[in-house]
Amino acid sequence: MPNFTDTELRNIIDLRGIGQSYDGGQNWIIKDLEFLIEDKPEQGQFVVILGMSGSGKSTLLRYIAGLQEPTEGSVKIDGKPLDEAQRVSMVFQRYSSLPWMSVLDNVALGLQYQGMSKNERNEKAMEMIQLIGLDGHQHKYAQYPTLSGGQLQRVAIGRSLLANPQILLMDEPFGALDVKTRLQMQDLLSKIWHQFHSTIVFVTHDIAEAVYLGDDIYILKSAPSKFVRHIKVDLPLIRTRETKREKRYTELVHLVEDQMIEVADMG
Ligand SMILES: Nc1ncnc2c1ncn2[C@@H]1O[C@H](COP(=O)(O)OP(=O)(O)OP(=O)(O)O)[C@@H](O)[C@H]1O
Ligand SMILES: [Mg+2]
Repeated sequence: MPNFTDTELRNIIDLRGIGQSYDGGQNWIIKDLEFLIEDKPEQGQFVVILGMSGSGKSTLLRYIAGLQEPTEGSVKIDGKPLDEAQRVSMVFQRYSSLPWMSVLDNVALGLQYQGMSKNERNEKAMEMIQLIGLDGHQHKYAQYPTLSGGQLQRVAIGRSLLANPQILLMDEPFGALDVKTRLQMQDLLSKIWHQFHSTIVFVTHDIAEAVYLGDDIYILKSAPSKFVRHIKVDLPLIRTRETKREKRYTELVHLVEDQMIEVADMG
């Protein structure tokens, strides 16, 4: 038998047999969960997780970031166990900018471990600041209300992308934004993320947002949690406002909505 092992695409994220209990195994919040995401090093990918509140979405991101270990099961990132895993960045449910630093220093922080001079870091950070539309704000403190909620979230996204992580975890990053700012942030993200070739794992409650941004959508059932649906989003790779006018986009939103209801009825 030929051995194909070396030619198989490896999983950048590999969660197997995951279980989570907080009371010594009497109740399981997560049970028998698998989450296997293949590496696509030259193009990056955008994976979305949907699921009811309390279904364990933030918990899964914490496993991948190495901030928490599951009660049972194995977590491997890029083929390695957690403690050796690197280059995972996280944008949290609430703003994760550092309010005592300027916008420029916040964004440049993403580069601090990459052995560049301060001038070089600032130059690259300014390019990113332009990309996220905050040119002119670079010397302001990254705090509310000096910057608005959407601007602060752009700072966090800019810093995370500039760090060029293999995996970028985004936990409802636009959840606290008004509708207009949220749409602008979606457009911004859909426009720029391709340049960075990261695997993005994005958690949201917004189905339209999931379809607009995602290549793959995974739906979690609750009590106990595990993935029970996977939808491939067959829309063009590059999404624009026009994508939302396409018939297939609307069909996919309805399809995902139906599946969410089916999954919610599972218990
Ligand atoms: N230390 C803990 N002890 C007991 N239960 C916990 C603990 N930490 C988390 N949980 C439970 O784990 C479950 C999953 O929480 P998690 O924050 O991952 O959900 P989520 O899917 O991100 O929800 P949301 O959509 O509201 O952000 C919740 O039911 C929560 O109550
Ligand atoms: Mg959460």
